[in-house]
Amino acid sequence: MPKRVTKAIFPVAGMGTRFLPATKSVPKEIMTLVDRPLIQYAIDEARAAGIKEFIFVTSRGKGALEDYFDHAPQLEQELRKKGKTELLETLQNTNMESGAIAYIRQHRALGLGHAVWCARRLIAKEPFAVILPDDVIAAEKPCLQQMVEAYEETGGNMVAAMEVPAEQASSYGMLDVAEDMGQMVKVKGMVEKPKSEDAPSNLAVIGRYILAPTVLQNLNQIKSGSGGEIQLTDAIANEIEQDRNVYGYRFKGQRFDCGSKSGFLQATVAFGLAREDLREDLSAYLESISAADKAAQ
Ligand code: UTP
Repeated sequence: MPKRVTKAIFPVAGMGTRFLPATKSVPKEIMTLVDRPLIQYAIDEARAAGIKEFIFVTSRGKGALEDYFDHAPQLEQELRKKGKTELLETLQNTNMESGAIAYIRQHRALGLGHAVWCARRLIAKEPFAVILPDDVIAAEKPCLQQMVEAYEETGGNMVAAMEVPAEQASSYGMLDVAEDMGQMVKVKGMVEKPKSEDAPSNLAVIGRYILAPTVLQNLNQIKSGSGGEIQLTDAIANEIEQDRNVYGYRFKGQRFDCGSKSGFLQATVAFGLAREDLREDLSAYLESISAADKAAQ
């Protein structure tokens, strides 16, 4: 059985330019779907998958993210005094154990691969997960948990895979499939953002990974030979060249690209509708604007 995955890297050093001007002072990961920041969804998913060590790769201007994980004794005391036990519980659920979180700085935004490489000393020789908080996945069983369970059977490297229409291939890393095993595929290559006609399959990689520590060595090599962005996809593809396994895992669930405005709005509606306290009001409003829209046509 492969070694347990207990460490996760959260690369959050990007500038989030698609959300300017908001991201001028608010880290993208603190932006909220309903009332929880994106990062909280990512943390909860990691916890459900058995992650014990949370490594954030941050950059300048991400202070609010670090503050978010601090305990808030005054606020807790106030809620306790007022008997707001439900809110108190919600707040306490965001508390992290001392020593469970580490922050590493990425001094220059040299790409996702570089961000992961920055955490190499904290990973050492263990398999690790990577979670991109921009990708929010609504699922009965959290996506990373699904992957960890599959990984316990396969070992190697595993990426979350999702079918996309051909015209969207140029926005993703795309899988070249050696063998389709249903829930999983064995991968023989990966291409970063190909033209639609060059995409080797319709399976795109999205922001959940379980990786072998050798990927960090590959990143070492790529880093010394690269002038531009350092891609995580290339370092995973190197694993295949070195005869180590890479699997694509077709997760069950709906993924929202919260790094884009449209995806973020869709997720807001979907998570709002999933909330009992909001469903009725929100769906009545959505129906009313859709009826008004039809009447105007
Ligand atoms: P994106 O490509 O979405 O970039 O990064 P971004 O800077 O966050 O957003 P835009 O495109 O300017 O709006 C995907 C993930 O990789 C991280 C980001 O923080 C995000 O979680 N990342 C990207 C880094 O940590 N470092 C980098 O150098 C690049």
